[in-house]
Amino acid sequence: MNAPTTPTAPSTAAAPAGVAHPKAIRSFVRRTGRVTAGQAKAFADLAPRFVLPYRAQPLDADAAWGRSAPLILEIGFGMGEATAHIAALMPDKNFLCCEVHEPGVGALLKRIGEQGLSNIRIVRHDAVEVIDHMLPDACLAGAHIFFPDPWHKKRHHKRRLVQPPLVARLARRLAPGAYLHCATDWQPYAQQMLEVLSAEPLLANTADGFAPKPDYRPLTKFENRGLRLGHGVWDVVFTRRPALGGPMDAPARP
Ligand SMILES: C[S@@+](CC[C@H](N)C(=O)[O-])C[C@H]1O[C@@H](n2cnc3c(N)ncnc32)[C@H](O)[C@@H]1O
Repeated sequence: MNAPTTPTAPSTAAAPAGVAHPKAIRSFVRRTGRVTAGQAKAFADLAPRFVLPYRAQPLDADAAWGRSAPLILEIGFGMGEATAHIAALMPDKNFLCCEVHEPGVGALLKRIGEQGLSNIRIVRHDAVEVIDHMLPDACLAGAHIFFPDPWHKKRHHKRRLVQPPLVARLARRLAPGAYLHCATDWQPYAQQMLEVLSAEPLLANTADGFAPKPDYRPLTKFENRGLRLGHGVWDVVFTRRPALGGPMDAPARP
């Protein structure tokens, strides 16, 4: 695929004093995957309209979608099966979808073309940097993290997406009342999700522990295969608390 490349320099925000370029711990590895002819064609035809460049500056969502609507962030959409399903179900919402895997971006563009979807925009970049640099506080109506890489080995746990620092930054991007929905088929990670989200002061659980699967999240091919093999799946759904009394939570003055 003749896709433009985006810079992926690690953020230096958390650099210890004197370290200009810390080695970022990323939640993904860049896999080389075969891009099909259909995905490549979808990229050539549709990327100019649906792929937004990563820029270390606040996103102008109204301009990017050509309308004002509640914004939902998705981190790591894989091949975009659930993404396209949910976007079709909720045409009144704007979906900002981050993925670094090139064939996945092509696959979602193909679905966008086939299903005539107009409410998705893709950023082919590390979602952590998108959150840090493109999303202002309280701009999101929701966030989806479905089946993030479980990083099974203990020495790789530091790569897991759902950890306190990222969740704290993501929670600030949620508007009061907005939701964060995570799902996984790896029980220890499900437990970690529940613990990390429960410990975040800005978030409140919508359930008593794990949540029932919300209807909008489809059972994907991958999930169905797991269920046939007897694997479990856990959903965790929290909402942003209305106010904590901090400066960002102060009520607007007339
Ligand atoms: C296990 S797959 C799950 C894909 C999809 N959500 C699903 O349910 O089938 C996780 C995906 O997240 C992507 N990913 C991981 N960390 C990411 C990040 N920081 N930014 C963007 N994508 C990321 C990976 O490239 C991978 O495609």
